[in-house]
Amino acid sequence: MNIEIRSESLEQLPCSALVVFGFEGAPAATGTVEQLPAETRRTLEELQTSGELKGKLYECTLVHRPAGVKAAKLLVVGAGKKDKFNGSQLRRLAGCAVRYLRARSVRDVAWVRGGEGSSEEDVQTVVEGAILGDYGADRYKTERNNEHRIDRFSLVGGGAAGGTTDAVAVERGGIIAGAQNFTRDLVNEPSNRMTPTLFAQRAQEMAGQSGLECQVLGSEEMRELKMGALLAVAQGSEEPAKVIVVRYFPPGAPEKPVVGLIGKGITFDSGGISIKPSDNMHEMKTDMAGGATMLGVMRAIAQLKPNVRVMAVIPATENMPSGKASKPGDVVTSMCGKTIEIINTDAEGRMVLADALCYAKQLGCTVLIDAATLTGAVMIALGNITTGVFGWNQGWVDRVLASASAAGEKMWQLPVQEEYRDLYKSSIADLANSGGRYGAAIIGAMFIGEFAGDTPWVHLDIAGTRWSNEEKPYRTKGPTGHGVRTLVHLLTHFSA
Ligand code: BES
Ligand code: MN
Ligand code: ZN
Repeated sequence: MNIEIRSESLEQLPCSALVVFGFEGAPAATGTVEQLPAETRRTLEELQTSGELKGKLYECTLVHRPAGVKAAKLLVVGAGKKDKFNGSQLRRLAGCAVRYLRARSVRDVAWVRGGEGSSEEDVQTVVEGAILGDYGADRYKTERNNEHRIDRFSLVGGGAAGGTTDAVAVERGGIIAGAQNFTRDLVNEPSNRMTPTLFAQRAQEMAGQSGLECQVLGSEEMRELKMGALLAVAQGSEEPAKVIVVRYFPPGAPEKPVVGLIGKGITFDSGGISIKPSDNMHEMKTDMAGGATMLGVMRAIAQLKPNVRVMAVIPATENMPSGKASKPGDVVTSMCGKTIEIINTDAEGRMVLADALCYAKQLGCTVLIDAATLTGAVMIALGNITTGVFGWNQGWVDRVLASASAAGEKMWQLPVQEEYRDLYKSSIADLANSGGRYGAAIIGAMFIGEFAGDTPWVHLDIAGTRWSNEEKPYRTKGPTGHGVRTLVHLLTHFSA
């Protein structure tokens, strides 16, 4: 999709479809509908009077051969209640327009700016929405929907069109949404096409294209580093495990902080010997979403160039049952020396993250953020809408939450409290990897936190938000790339 800012007037712009939005109650006289020539608006007033045009959120009304403009079609998107309108909503309106139009084989779309939604930040938001809306997970369809993708998305009107800051906003939006779609592509890959080896290759490819350093450790090096927890998960699989390290160390950046982004990279989670029921087990190809999120973030910051050192560390392995697999009751020694009793081999995420956090600290990270599809429990608590946020360092938790809200991703803090510690004590080792069903998301988080130690750390449980089960007007069902925008915002608005 080509994104452009065009300076022609609305009336004169040749395109397949012009997009405007109006608010509930008076859609023909509010929002960017106001930018249209009077002649065009009259048609919309008629539609409003007849009750066809209500302005309800995501309502799409397509007018063919609209009067007063050159465009072949005019799409009016309902923006819902005016007092609920915000950037997040604007992003979705753009996504909604793109999805509606591409389903009707429209390739050349022009978004009308002005009034609500015309600031520079709004331009970035609209661009993000359009690119995210244009995403389709149809890679393995022999008849690809791809053919319907939008070729050209223009922004028109709204005063000072074409300024340099607008161009920057378009670029930023493109980079961020492009990175989010990159993450979605990785998450969508089935496990036979996304083994730890292939995952590492994809990371290296991305790093090469982005000018980032990438290093991949094999099992030999993991053994040398004594990554006993990670290796305990990997040992049941025929596929060799990898630890992927990607560095962004810009020349001018201060030596500290070094932000460590640790992403769970389980390319398939069968549960191991504590095997999962077969219903929905196929969804466990997405258990590397945390790792994919961090690669998306690295891809974006390589282009946006914030002045801060960032390092991604992704422990990648399958979790499989076999004659060599770890068994419930086994005790292993993690890289930092803490011993772990494996109560449940399906609690593998915290095992691989334990060693990855320790390794990230050894590599010099001074702040740690992990993203992981860690627990079913967080889905019970927050559904598919909201990411669970955990951490002892409230200052850092607040920074992540502020970025989430600025980036339009829903995140909510859940507690980590001393009292829960008893729940993952082991009678024979330092820690147990499972503490039962009650408070399981908290227990999982706190287990990981034990390996962060005194280093500021935030944990994002994206088990629910990694995937959307329903088709939305603004987004296809499937991988969401949730978390990418928040972390990119955090790193690009970074002050030490
Ligand atoms: N990858 C799963 C969590 C998950 C569940 C992600 C559903 C996405 C959708 C994780 O490895 C897991 O199996 N967690 C267990 C932990 C338990 C054994 C302590 C869980 O949540 O049931
Ligand atoms: Mn598991
Ligand atoms: Zn898992």
